[in-house]
Amino acid sequence: MSLASQEDLVGMQAISEIVGLTLKQMQAYAQPGMSTKELDQYGRKLLEQGGARSAPKLAYNFPGWTCISLNEEVCHGIPSHRRILKEGDLVNIDVSAELNGYWSDNGGSFVLGQDIHQHGALVEASKQILAKAISRIKAGVRIADIGGLIETEAKRSGYRVIKNLAGHGIGRRLHEEPHEILCYYDSSNKGRFRKNSVVAIETFLSTKASFAHDKGDGWTLVARDSFAAQHEHTIVVTEGDPIILTSANQIWN
Ligand code: CO
Ligand code: CO
Repeated sequence: MSLASQEDLVGMQAISEIVGLTLKQMQAYAQPGMSTKELDQYGRKLLEQGGARSAPKLAYNFPGWTCISLNEEVCHGIPSHRRILKEGDLVNIDVSAELNGYWSDNGGSFVLGQDIHQHGALVEASKQILAKAISRIKAGVRIADIGGLIETEAKRSGYRVIKNLAGHGIGRRLHEEPHEILCYYDSSNKGRFRKNSVVAIETFLSTKASFAHDKGDGWTLVARDSFAAQHEHTIVVTEGDPIILTSANQIWN
């Protein structure tokens, strides 16, 4: 969406704060031995306390309130009683929700407990690349150039990017124009970031795979033989530094 009034900004700030705090509190709540369903139910409670509705459930009838993806899973992991979190797991929680017609999206990968499988470097690279990408976005910047930056930085860190997943416009729906804020330089994308537009910027890094594949459950996407990390913030584009709406969860601190 393009913010047209102070009311629009206030509406986006309200839902973004709920989404950001829900993600932050879910990350803190996650423990080895807990099922992803239990973690999702905690997220559900937090969203409902804020009066917010789960975006993937509302928009796509997703079978959960948040997406929780483990290890080789890149995104859209379905919360389940049978998925038990383990020490050292690479966990991604993606929280998106709606309040009063405004939608916001915030995600982050982290290592659960002790980093016994050495996923920390991948997580750090993804966080730092998101921070750098966001710092370069302002009105008039080409969308393709931000994709190029994400890919270049990922390669420099020894990782690949997932090419069939993308950031996106957001605000009045979960996914809006521009639909393809990719993690690589797409020369055919002539689009530019526009002042006052609201976009969700996402990194999708992997240790090996360049594409995410359907796991077979109709939702979950996996990076085969790889580990994957994602970080995402919803921002407002300005003529200077973007406004990071979901900064309640300061994922790169
Ligand atoms: Co998301
Ligand atoms: Co998103």
